[in-house]
Amino acid sequence: MHFFRPFNKSKNCTKIISSMENTESKKRAERNRTLTLNQEEIPLLRQHLLYTDTLETVNTPEPSENILNKTINGDIIKSLPHIPDNFADLIIIDPPYNLTKNFNGTVFNSRTQDSYEEYLDTWFPQVCKKLKSNGSLYICGDWKCTASLQRAVEKQLTILNRITWQREKGRGAKANWKNGMEDIWFAVKNPKDYYFDVEAVKIKRRVIAPYTENGKPKDWNQTEEGNFRLTYPSNFWDDISIPFWSMPENTDHPTQKPEKLYAKLILASSKPGDVIFDPFLGSGTASVVAKKLGRNYCGIELNEEYALLAEKRLLLAETDKSIQGYSDGVFWERNTLSDQKKRTSEKAETKQNTGIKAHDQSDSQNLLFDE
Ligand SMILES: C[S@@+](CC[C@H](N)C(=O)[O-])C[C@H]1O[C@@H](n2cnc3c(N)ncnc32)[C@H](O)[C@@H]1O
Repeated sequence: MHFFRPFNKSKNCTKIISSMENTESKKRAERNRTLTLNQEEIPLLRQHLLYTDTLETVNTPEPSENILNKTINGDIIKSLPHIPDNFADLIIIDPPYNLTKNFNGTVFNSRTQDSYEEYLDTWFPQVCKKLKSNGSLYICGDWKCTASLQRAVEKQLTILNRITWQREKGRGAKANWKNGMEDIWFAVKNPKDYYFDVEAVKIKRRVIAPYTENGKPKDWNQTEEGNFRLTYPSNFWDDISIPFWSMPENTDHPTQKPEKLYAKLILASSKPGDVIFDPFLGSGTASVVAKKLGRNYCGIELNEEYALLAEKRLLLAETDKSIQGYSDGVFWERNTLSDQKKRTSEKAETKQNTGIKAHDQSDSQNLLFDE
């Protein structure tokens, strides 16, 4: 399988032969649900992509309707001029971190902090121009690049918070602490005018020591599946795992973000119908979650295979709106699969009794896999 792969000639990027000759042909365990591309669907998926090099406008913005709900395959520097200013209500950025990482044949090389900040300067100010005056922006990073990100964001926007995501998995090191966290900076253009819906991102937590008043639950609910409390989220997130092989959202992208993580950002900081923009789209998580939650989207991705994977996930999202770990309008803690399952079978029974279809896909998909 040969893909057209635009090559970033920057001195810090090295082109190497792709190892992803055909993701389909990799040997995988029986229960492995990793989403791959197959030969037959590639021509169809290609029809959905916009290729930067073939866009009609030259260094001028496309009309919004041409790029809305599209994946643009191209380099961020060449693609950004095609995006109109004030285009997005919410921008989510998961850039290459200051690490050496092979993105399917294009290696991003780790560099000095100064050089990484110069790299951020080549695109971050341009990206901020695409944000509406009342828009919000999130940018992800690890401990090593987070200070550079903070400095870059502060030059353009007002930072309102720093979310720490305890992502659990991380590679152990003999002479250092294992890296098990990431930062997500939350910033806005205008701190006096931005959208934030905390009610949309409540967490359903199990109550360990249920407190009663006059024999009645205080601030928690007694249900058949257990005792739970709905809580408002803090800026420390410990309820989200990195996608792994048994999850249907998983792809071979090396740094794919979980749908549950982006669902929180999108639900809190956008309304249905808003535009979500991701300039480093990867396997498509931001666009896919935006679509599942009834938002519009647009993403840029350099690597064609990743862009095609994004398109495949977007097609699947037409019929499957489930987001693992988010159901019934709340986010569930890790390891609550059996509770969610009980809740779903009760719901299914109720639907059967009322003559509505027994299972909707979202419920069953959501609950087949633990986190
Ligand atoms: C950290 S990953 C994003 C992963 C994504 N959040 C997901 O959930 O799959 C960064 C992505 O940026 C892409 N990328 C790197 N340099 C780029 C450039 N100059 N223009 C556009 N995309 C680029 C890489 O191919 C990679 O897929």
